[in-house]
Amino acid sequence: MKLQHPPGTKDFFPEDAAKRSHILDTWRRVSIRNGFELVDGPVFELLELYKVKSGEGIVNELFHFQDRGGRELAIRPEFTPTLARMVASRANALPKPIKWFCMPNLCRAERPQRGRLREFWQWNVDVLGSDSPIADAESILAAVDALHAFGLRPEHIRVKISHRQTVKLVLEKLGVPDEKIMPAFELLDGRDKMTAEEFSQGAAKLGLTPDRVERFDQVGRMSYPVGKLDAMARALSLEGLESMGELMALDETLRAFDIADWCEYDMGIVRGLAYYTGTVYEIHEASGAERAIAGGGRYDKLIELFDGPPTPAVGFGMGNVVLEHVLIDKGLMPTDAMPRPDVFVIALTDDAAKALPGTVRRLRLDGWHTRFSYRSSRNVGKLLKEADQCGAVRALILDDGVQSGKAKLKMLQEQGREREVPLENPMTPEPKVEAD
Ligand code: HAM
Repeated sequence: MKLQHPPGTKDFFPEDAAKRSHILDTWRRVSIRNGFELVDGPVFELLELYKVKSGEGIVNELFHFQDRGGRELAIRPEFTPTLARMVASRANALPKPIKWFCMPNLCRAERPQRGRLREFWQWNVDVLGSDSPIADAESILAAVDALHAFGLRPEHIRVKISHRQTVKLVLEKLGVPDEKIMPAFELLDGRDKMTAEEFSQGAAKLGLTPDRVERFDQVGRMSYPVGKLDAMARALSLEGLESMGELMALDETLRAFDIADWCEYDMGIVRGLAYYTGTVYEIHEASGAERAIAGGGRYDKLIELFDGPPTPAVGFGMGNVVLEHVLIDKGLMPTDAMPRPDVFVIALTDDAAKALPGTVRRLRLDGWHTRFSYRSSRNVGKLLKEADQCGAVRALILDDGVQSGKAKLKMLQEQGREREVPLENPMTPEPKVEAD
């Protein structure tokens, strides 16, 4: 019986797993140097958790099932509700700001397409317990720091920032009634995935007249660089608004962190998830050809919804799928992401073959990535070829010399340079030759 993996999932053969590890290892390293602590939660949760506030989009994409006790459960489609539940349960005991990261695998029953799978890994970075724009900026800084660590530069990336309250006010001015604000956000959020006609029809359903639909569309396309918020406020008559004040403070902090050139303001960014309350942002590859690399924002009311104390919060999720496409397209995915052996041990005589297992064990105990051949061949050419094929940096050749405690260490990358080494300690560094 030949069975394939389910649609929208992936098998990770060694080369694929190495690429994913490159991404996850970089996320982990960057999280730690930005002062975030690792957390995690269950792979499945009570279905109820996602119904509270994730919003239609995600709830329609849940993989859910019943356990034998009749409980309704769902595989996690995102981490934020779990995080909010965890923080709510201990909020008073946790020192603020709470800075947490995690890298869960998530499942969404989406239509599989480029950049969207049914199982993916998502880096979550969240700052809780602070309403300061420093928290918003520091979450963006962590994302930018990671993208920079992958080799991306400001010209490759746009961090598109907006504010839900600002967009809400613009929509209200256009005549969108209060109860239709969330559907209007969802329409704006999904605009890139629909035709102009579908967008106009959606806008008309919000009760907008055709000229207002056009204005709505124009607003959704407005973007301004960091440092030019005044111009945006004037263009949209938003001077003096509280939410504009928050954006101004963020603007200053982004410049102070020296990441302004990665960022811009884009009134078309509102995010599809229902829990966002303030700043929202998405990170895109600059040409706009790919789906979003990351998305996040402020969700100041979510912890209270899980019976926690008022706890302002901001953070983002960055998926591995689009990021991997972008890194490969730009030639930034290391070709040697697979771990290379430090040393490949070869035995050329029967005595040497007896000494091989103990040598391998000692090398591994000392922390060296060590491999050897399973073949009984004593043909040095064939064995060296095997060492070369797995990318080994050195070959440790055991031959007649083992009787006097000697072996040969051959550098496979440096034109095969070879030297005699003690068998007990074969990786001992080469003695330096003093110049006269
Ligand atoms: P989200 O916009 O649903 O936000 O997802 C964030 C990122 O996860 C996306 O930009 C994308 O890179 C990746 N992603 C989402 N769905 C898929 C998929 N089906 N296949 C591959 N990648 C995907 C959230 O999940 C929020 N909980 C993020 C957050 C954390 N907000 C605050 N803190």
